[in-house]
Amino acid sequence: MYIKQLELNNFRNIDNIKINFEDGINLIHGENGVGKTSIVEAIYYLGNLGSFRTSDDTALIKDKEAFANIDAKTSEKEFNIKIFKDKKELKINEIPFKKYRDYLGELNIIGFCPEDIYLFKDSPRLRRGFLDKEISKIDKKYLMDTLKVNKILKERNKLLKSFDKYKKEVITILDKKLASLQSRIINKRSKFIKSLEEEANSMKQLFEYKYDISLIYNTFVKLDSDNLENEILSIYEKGLDNDIERMVTNNGVHKDDWNVRVNDIEIKDYASQGEQRMMVLIIKLSLAQMIK
Ligand SMILES: Nc1ncnc2c1ncn2[C@@H]1O[C@H](COP(=O)(O)OP(=O)(O)O)[C@@H](O)[C@H]1O
Ligand SMILES: [Mg+2]
Repeated sequence: MYIKQLELNNFRNIDNIKINFEDGINLIHGENGVGKTSIVEAIYYLGNLGSFRTSDDTALIKDKEAFANIDAKTSEKEFNIKIFKDKKELKINEIPFKKYRDYLGELNIIGFCPEDIYLFKDSPRLRRGFLDKEISKIDKKYLMDTLKVNKILKERNKLLKSFDKYKKEVITILDKKLASLQSRIINKRSKFIKSLEEEANSMKQLFEYKYDISLIYNTFVKLDSDNLENEILSIYEKGLDNDIERMVTNNGVHKDDWNVRVNDIEIKDYASQGEQRMMVLIIKLSLAQMIK
């Protein structure tokens, strides 16, 4: 499947444009500031419901206009997104999608830009966000689980902030839920990272890259444990006093991280800018291979 036709209205500096793409590689060229990156941005938006350049949708709407419009046709489906300042409307084949999570995964778009080396340099939050987004595209239940965990953690932290012995019982109930949800999330993250590592090690041949690539998943529980759920529960039990003292939940998938090692050294400490960029490209292409 590929995007045959793209039409943009009031997107960035573009009034109206209709582009027909060919199956295969398409090159977009033009003077500075004509809107080349904006076209790529609109395509990215179709699959990710967000831009790679900004987290503020307002910036995408042409100055002084009320909304922007992205229309795309593949051989199978028609996608339509209207971006307003405070919301977006999504349609596939004219059928509205009220929930973003139902829409996500319908059109898989992998973006790559030089800034993507943030993946290695930036905070764990960004790397978790990357994982969550990519896994959610292929697994809706995963997305629901992560949303539930966030909600329960909020509740738990509230209880910790005003802790008294009566709240312990509620926390125990929450911890049981957390253990079950988080064991599923951890298993899926671990599996996903393993597949990505495998794919990356075959993808690297394309770049004549000879080193071993390892993707390491760091979480708060031992991955090889026989009963992950019980293990998590016991960590929460043992950590409760510390949690009460610090008034926050210290263990959980909300602290997870992953990183890339080449030749057993963490990439951000070892590889050059160029090599790091290539590694991001290897990872993005591997992703594309996985969700194909
Ligand atoms: N919301 C907006 N309304 C109008 N113009 C915009 C908006 N956002 C960005 N621009 C302008 O759009 C132009 C196109 O940018 P861009 O797509 O990055 O160009 P290119 O990649 O072709 O160099 C820029 O000159 C920028 O100032
Ligand atoms: Mg550009």
